[in-house]
Amino acid sequence: MAQFDHHTEHFAQRWRETYAELRGGCPVAHTDAHGGFSVVTRYEDVRRVLHDPKTFACGRELEFSNAPGERTGGVTVPVNPVRMGMMEMDPPDSQAYRRLLAPYFSPKAIKDYRPRLAEIVSWMVDRVIGSGRIDFVDDLSNPLPALVSLDYFGLPLERWEAYASALHKAAYREKGSARAVGEVLADLRATVAHRRALVARGDSEQPETVLDRLLGAEVNGVPLTDELVTEMMFMLLNGGIDTSTALIASMFGYLGAHPERRAELAADQSLVPTAVDEMLRYFTPGTGVARTVTAPVELGGVSLRPGDRVLLALGSANNDPDVFPEPDEIRLDRDNNSKHLAFGSGIHRCLGAFLAPAEMTVLLEEVLRRMPDFAIDESKVIRYPTIPLVNGYIAMPASFTPGPTVLTGFDARLPVRAATPATELVS
Ligand code: HEM
Repeated sequence: MAQFDHHTEHFAQRWRETYAELRGGCPVAHTDAHGGFSVVTRYEDVRRVLHDPKTFACGRELEFSNAPGERTGGVTVPVNPVRMGMMEMDPPDSQAYRRLLAPYFSPKAIKDYRPRLAEIVSWMVDRVIGSGRIDFVDDLSNPLPALVSLDYFGLPLERWEAYASALHKAAYREKGSARAVGEVLADLRATVAHRRALVARGDSEQPETVLDRLLGAEVNGVPLTDELVTEMMFMLLNGGIDTSTALIASMFGYLGAHPERRAELAADQSLVPTAVDEMLRYFTPGTGVARTVTAPVELGGVSLRPGDRVLLALGSANNDPDVFPEPDEIRLDRDNNSKHLAFGSGIHRCLGAFLAPAEMTVLLEEVLRRMPDFAIDESKVIRYPTIPLVNGYIAMPASFTPGPTVLTGFDARLPVRAATPATELVS
């Protein structure tokens, strides 16, 4: 097999076959691409690495005695231009920051947010329901995670289109997307500073948000700087927006191509949460995460040394037949018990692992109710050309029988829960 490279179009077109070959023949395979790393493809190996954060680190600027002066690390290959908050830290720091955020993402917190989530979903469907036409990417899968994230985190809701577009385009490396992400970061920085000033003046009437929590927090007795709060907010947005966008589009793509499965779900909506979990397994929107080896270790029969980089192929682990019988089959009632690794596992397991499925469940139920006969125009469906981080879609137009609006209280133009910063979005 040619050298493995998850940044190529060839990989995007043949990732399932590529992983099946590697799992069967060379489950920890070295490649020289991007400075050299090993791709880990079997479920048990991937899980073992995720559960051994001491030997397999997430930090970005690690230095080893066998390569003095060289720095390596991070959870992507190659390293991301922007540090991803605690996702790219190791214990004890990673856990200290995680503890600040965890209460906002518990099952109870997400359950309490569900009525608001349902309003956002109905508002989005209202925007297209009368026309009988929809693009599942532009009209649903891209807006929903952005609206929910900004609303839930306490960021300016009316900016959702700019945030959604920048993070979505960055995922498939569209030209100009790096600049757009830079603008989002600048906007976040301004929002953080503005909000800090408001809270300091005692001028804020809005209920405490995720952003406020970070602004008021201390770690090891030291308050978080604006720069670190900005980084943490960026982590939340980057972690949650395009991964969810990708899964939602994949889910509707599948149900569009399989009307009989869609009818099954519409007839028995109690199957929806399990179906969403199975889609997460099968499509694995976040394709892989990286680690750096900190001590000599053997993995899948291969010896690894400190400083070696490994890419954990989550998409491969989730399709490993040793763990998921007939993995190429989507079984809407497959009882995974969330055994899949779409959200990672261990101490860095996705913080949005309750929020994201809630978004997908509420949305799928609404679409099955209000536009059950949607028909996707397959000739106009466009996938991401490359899938180094996220596996998703650029376009997925469809038609359906028009219906009435339901009009909820939600309006994305109104900053209902969010702070309103003083500066305008740089553009
Ligand atoms: C389908 C949607 C999603 C997928 C597939 C996904 C996937 C992942 C994966 C694989 C990791 C583990 C990273 C690692 O081990 O290095 C992770 C971590 C994380 N995700 Fe998600 N994610 C999704 C949605 C979200 C949402 C909605 C949020 C927003 C709250 C979010 C925030 C995070 C954060 C903050 C982390 C880092 C946790 C830590 O380091 O302790 N994700 N996600």
